[in-house]
Amino acid sequence: MKKYFIKTFGCQMNVYDSRRIASVLQRLGFGEASSPRNADLIILNTCHIREKAAEKVFSDLGRIEQIRQERAAEGLSTTIGVVGCVVQAEDEQIAKRAPYVDFALGPLTYHRLPEVLAKIGRAKGETVIDTEFPAESKFDFLPQNTSSDGCSYLAIQEGCDNFCTYCVVPYTRGIETSRPVEEVLKEARALVAGGTVEINLLGQNVNSYHGTDAAGKERSLAYLLNKINEIDGLQRIRYTTSYPADVTDELIDCHRNIKKLMPYLHLPLQSGSDKVLKAMNRRHTSGQYLETIAKLREANPLLGFSSDFIVGFPGETDADFEATLNVVRQVGFIQAFSFKYSRRAGTPAALMPNQIEEKVKKRRLDILQDLLFSYQLNFNKETVGKIVPVLFESRGRHAGQLVGRTPYMQNLHAELGKEFLNKIVNVRVTEATTNSLSGQKEG
Ligand code: SAH
Ligand code: SF4
Ligand code: F3S
Repeated sequence: MKKYFIKTFGCQMNVYDSRRIASVLQRLGFGEASSPRNADLIILNTCHIREKAAEKVFSDLGRIEQIRQERAAEGLSTTIGVVGCVVQAEDEQIAKRAPYVDFALGPLTYHRLPEVLAKIGRAKGETVIDTEFPAESKFDFLPQNTSSDGCSYLAIQEGCDNFCTYCVVPYTRGIETSRPVEEVLKEARALVAGGTVEINLLGQNVNSYHGTDAAGKERSLAYLLNKINEIDGLQRIRYTTSYPADVTDELIDCHRNIKKLMPYLHLPLQSGSDKVLKAMNRRHTSGQYLETIAKLREANPLLGFSSDFIVGFPGETDADFEATLNVVRQVGFIQAFSFKYSRRAGTPAALMPNQIEEKVKKRRLDILQDLLFSYQLNFNKETVGKIVPVLFESRGRHAGQLVGRTPYMQNLHAELGKEFLNKIVNVRVTEATTNSLSGQKEG
């Protein structure tokens, strides 16, 4: 049996895509390899969001080429493929810098993998590239998504029309498209039938979802959440990532009414300065963001928020940065991701004047992260002594240990047998650090 190995970089959408790619390969008769060394087909699923992420692909490709040569010395042939967002942006560079790559497919064309694999034999050493934004939806060509995991991702929306001035996603994932309601529900039911108890609905701008129902009527994310809520056996629902300006009252009501919806929301703010938000082309001010948070808290006082921040956007002054710290203090995020602004070729911000020096970016990031981590640690510490329901998703680093997630997406380790894998278990939290909790099964 031929074997594949897929390495995934980037966001949850890429994790989801890798699963779907694996299902295409399984249909072609491939099995999963435990390491690239024993794989006949090695695929990198790539991320282009920041320079570091994109450059990592080329260093990884160098290592994979070495593996290919080692295998060749043993008479084994290896096919190398690159998929994902870097391909969409840098297909020519891949073919030039890593000519040994057999194929390169964008995030919207991986359903064509069977044809592409067939073509490689005929391509005489050329890299087969497909970075079209196709008219068809890849989802119509993929095998039904099934999973025996307790927690599953489900992509409902892809692409982005927001064009934040720093961001490559509208160029790599294309314009916003939503999958039809019935197609999403069918996938959700199949996942639950396979054993999934938690579904995380994915989209680059998930709350602008506007898929059509069976009658051809456009429906919102709120409508979809209510429908998914009706699936028996499903216990937890999440959705990510939301755009603050697209949080509707109807969506806020979901946090009031849908018990399965977890009390945790990732809502990226990027900056607390209105001047910077405007230069970023974000369609919200910091005041509007805070209002949205207040309305959500009124709907569900138990909600915890997480966010994304960029420091050192072109033109960001000390006062602008201070405004970001201020919003952090007002909201008290329970988790957050923060990044130094990375200049991405082809985006408007790359050409803006007043690019910020690296050492200033670094200093600001350190200050912001200290503040964010202090809230995160406090929140985690407050959990100690409480009993929380944890969905155990994987084995821990030590034997006899499982790792899972609390409703607030905190990682929790516990000494537990593998029979509790993919189950929700009540756990008493015994210890907390900034990044994880430990606990013991209750009862
Ligand atoms: N669609 C989501 C996430 C996009 S990418 C959203 O709109 O929130 C995830 C995060 O990466 C972004 O929220 C942003 O904080 C960060 N990011 C995107 N482009 C970046 C860049 N050029 N430099 C640094 N961080 C960036
Ligand atoms: Fe990028 Fe902005 Fe779209 Fe998020 S909303 S994917 S940051 S363009
Ligand atoms: Fe990266 Fe593409 Fe996701 S650029 S963050 S993998 S949408």
